[in-house]
Formats: sequence, C-alpha cells, structure tokens
Amino acid sequence: MKNLLVTGGAGFIGANFVHYWMKTYPQDKVFVLDALTYAGNLASLNPVKDNPGFKFYQGDICDTAVVETLLREHRIDILVHFAAESHVDRSISGPEAFIQTNIIGTHSLLKAVKKVWLDEGLNKETHRFHHVSTDEVYGTLQADEPAFSETTPYAPSSPYSASKAASDHLVQAYHHTYGLQVTTSNCSNNYGPYHFPEKLIPLVITNILQDKPLPIYGDGQQIRDWLYVEDHARGIDLVITKGQLGECYNIGGINEWANIDIVKLICELMNREFAENATLADKYPHALSVLEGKAQSLITFVEDRAGHDRRYAIDPQKSNSDLGYKPQESFETGIQKTLQWYLRNDDWWTAVMDGSYRQWIEQQYSTAG
Ligand code: NAD
Ligand code: TYD
Repeated sequence: MKNLLVTGGAGFIGANFVHYWMKTYPQDKVFVLDALTYAGNLASLNPVKDNPGFKFYQGDICDTAVVETLLREHRIDILVHFAAESHVDRSISGPEAFIQTNIIGTHSLLKAVKKVWLDEGLNKETHRFHHVSTDEVYGTLQADEPAFSETTPYAPSSPYSASKAASDHLVQAYHHTYGLQVTTSNCSNNYGPYHFPEKLIPLVITNILQDKPLPIYGDGQQIRDWLYVEDHARGIDLVITKGQLGECYNIGGINEWANIDIVKLICELMNREFAENATLADKYPHALSVLEGKAQSLITFVEDRAGHDRRYAIDPQKSNSDLGYKPQESFETGIQKTLQWYLRNDDWWTAVMDGSYRQWIEQQYSTAG
C-alpha cells in the first residue's frame, strides 16, 4: 500500500490522474494538495470524494511547512507534482504567477521532500518525487523537423514553458546533488473530461453550446499533438512504477493536428450529434448555429498569440520501448468521449465558468495547515 500526495489534483490532469489511480490501486491512500486557483475545481474530484482512502487539503505548494506536515502526517511515499499555472495566454499577460507557482512552488516542494525524506530519513530508500512537465519546454518545431525526443535541447519560448523548463532543471538538480529519487514526464497537449474551458478543445465545445464565436489564432495552421488525458495518467503510472530514477520520459500518442482542422472536426461532430439526438435541442435551446447544422459558421479568425509556437510533436519511442507505454484511446474514440462528457456535464462547466461551485467548497472540505 502506498501513500500519495498529489499536488494540483483539483486541476484538469491532476483530477483525472486521481480518478485513474484510485480505480487502479484501490488499496492506496491519495491526498490532494491544491490551492484552488481559478483552474482548480473541487467538483472535478466528486467521483472520489467519498472514498475513505481520499482526502483533500486546500493549500499552496509555496507553503513549505504545510507540505512538510503532510509528508510526515501521512507518511507519504510518492509525491506526484501537477500543480502549476498552465495557460500560455495567461503567462503572456501576467508571467509573475507562473514564476511563483511553477518555479518557486516546485522548489518549495523539493525543499520539503529533501528535509523529510532525506534529512529526517522518512522513506529514505523508497520515496519518489514525480514531476509532471510538458513538451513545450523543447520550444517550437518546423514542419519538417523530427519530433521532440528526451535529448532535444530545451528552448522554451513562452513565460509558461520557460517556467516549466526551470522547474524541470531544479528537479534534476535535486537528484544529482542530493540523491533525491525523481522521475519526470514531458507530455503533449491533453484533452478529455474536466478540462477548463479556456483551452482550445473545451472552449470550442462549450462555445458551440452557447452559440459564441470560436476564436482561431492567426492562420490556424499551428500544430499540436493531442493525447487523451487518461492515457497521460497511464503513462505517469508506468514512469512511477517502471521508470529509472533521474530519467525523463516523453509521453505522446503520435496524433498531430492543425488547430483549424481540429476545430472543424469538432464542429462536424457536434452538428451530427445535434442532428441525431433530438433531446439536445431542449437542453441547449440557445445553440442556434449547431441546431441548424452550421457550427462552423462560428469560426472566427482573430489576432495571433504573441510568440505563438508553430508546432509541437512528441517522439514517444523511449516510453514505448523502456516502459511498454502505448495509448489505449484512439483520437476518434477519445474526442467522442470528450464531446459526450461535455454534453452531459453542463452543470460542471457552467458552474466552473461562473465560479458558483466555490460556494459549497468551505462546507465540504478541510483546509491544510
Ligand atoms: P490546470 O491549470 O488545469 O490545473 C492546475 C492545478 O494546480 C489547479 O487545480 C490549481 O488550483 C492548482 N494550483 C495552481 N497553483 C497552485 C499552487 N501555488 N499551489 C497549489 N496548487 C496550485 O493544469 P493541467 O492542465 O491539469 O496541468 C497539470 C500539469 O500538467 C501542469 O504541471 C502542466 O504544466 C502539465 N501539463 C499540462 C498539459 C496540458 O495539455 N494541459 C500537457 C502537458 C503537461
Ligand atoms: P491551448 O489549448 O491554449 O494549449 P497550448 O497553447 O498549451 O498548446 O492552445 C492550443 C492551440 O490552440 C494553440 O496553438 C493556441 C490555439 N488556440 C486558438 O487558436 N484559439 C483559442 O481560443 C485558444 C484558447 C487556443
């Protein structure tokens, strides 16, 4: 039996990871530490909230003392670090929060685990710090360049990716200098349930349902490599259970799409869904364009993102060969599951967007410290 501390577990990938882990390892205990920023939603943890092996703490990873207390109190063996500021557009308009959480916050966690695991000796031989990072640390690719491998030099270009790159280096430094037992995964763009509707795929789905414009930055020909979020959780599991200490593993599903093509695909799938399912007209009476089978009429080209990376692509060969990693979801099945989830869970995304879910947070959960 393991005791996990998951930072950022109320965010998109963290929450999906917690669901996955508690299903896969029901004997383990999972503690979530999350500051509940605008991106953290306790409603995303509803599927596990009554599980006796689960407990939520509201707190900031920059608060080293709180992290140390949690490590000692729950005899944590594995810390899985998701907590971050994660939206590139926000990093352009306000980089400070990214420096604070992604760099200072990661260093705060490293200081806490060094003190408790190495200096005090709790789980000295058996601990693991798993750092969740991104392919964006490698910078941008031209159309004809090979995909990012673990040996591609770091060349981050946004304040977000630069802050993630800094945190990756700090994690490696704590391994090399102090012998902290770490692993890192660098994953491509994720999609799936519980994705905050400021990111491309959930934004497009929820805007269609509200008959709002679908903003395409620049020419829409930027390429991203998409992975279903549960396949990311599965990859992290393999890195934790089979990965070599001090190693980094790229996780991806070889699934490159130009933004405009993905938006057109979602429009087509939504048109078809509304044509085939009459109950959707009652549920979404304001979704006029998709009700007429014309969701693509909402596509609107807007000014490009500053410094917009042209292409990301992951070469997953190392995780395939060393860990036996392979995504289970095809893009066709993953995007269908995602659409269906948003169509069913309008209570989640409407509450997340207007912030009203926060009203019941205080009554339901304890606070760290
Ligand atoms: P998210 O923005 O949905 O969630 C981040 C979570 O961290 C939120 O619950 C937020 O409340 C919490 N948080 C933020 N600052 C905190 C702080 N100071 N202390 C404690 N908690 C804090 O992000 P996500 O998309 O789930 O990404 C999770 C991780 O995966 C990030 O580290 C990100 O860099 C990485 N990643 C994301 C993607 C992607 O496509 N979304 C791809 C690869 C890697
Ligand atoms: P995003 O989901 O923000 O992820 P990231 O920037 O981390 O890759 O954006 C994915 C792509 O979609 C990216 O190239 C920017 C583009 N995009 C738009 O064209 N319009 C939008 O409204 C958003 C949010 C993103």
